[in-house]
Amino acid sequence: MAKKQSDRRQEPAGSAAGSREQLIEALNGDLSREYQAIIAYVVYSQMLKGAQYMTIAKELELHAKQELDHALTIAKQIDYLGGTPTVEPKPVRVSSRAEEMLRFDLDNETDTIRNYRERVRQCEALNEFAMAEEIREILRVEQEHQIDLATALGEDVPPASKR
Ligand SMILES: [Fe+2]
Ligand SMILES: [Fe+2]
Repeated sequence: MAKKQSDRRQEPAGSAAGSREQLIEALNGDLSREYQAIIAYVVYSQMLKGAQYMTIAKELELHAKQELDHALTIAKQIDYLGGTPTVEPKPVRVSSRAEEMLRFDLDNETDTIRNYRERVRQCEALNEFAMAEEIREILRVEQEHQIDLATALGEDVPPASKR
């Protein structure tokens, strides 16, 4: 039986295989990232100063509300699976420099997108197709966030295969 455990650990990182318990744990990681995003967007949207950042500051206020919707959706899925939604956000980095704040957000969105792609695969492997759909919808919004931030930083979003 111990052998089985170690076999599982040797599965490739991108493997869609996994149990419902692993999915609950992974979704709680997602929920922590959503809390982190809510806090970051609430704070950064008010800290960005200067005429050139007014448009993106408004966008970030909208992001904050969308991240709250995501947190509620993810918490609902955790509860449905029989888990307990976490109360812990991932740590939020702070900076007084506008560019650095936007960079933190962009990095977090890229990390979030990578995680949700994996989550869609995990849900489908467990035949949780409706849940996979919910997560795809979140993923679509996160990709918009990523584009908003990259645009504000004057960068292109790399193709999905390179992220
Ligand atoms: Fe989100
Ligand atoms: Fe986002």
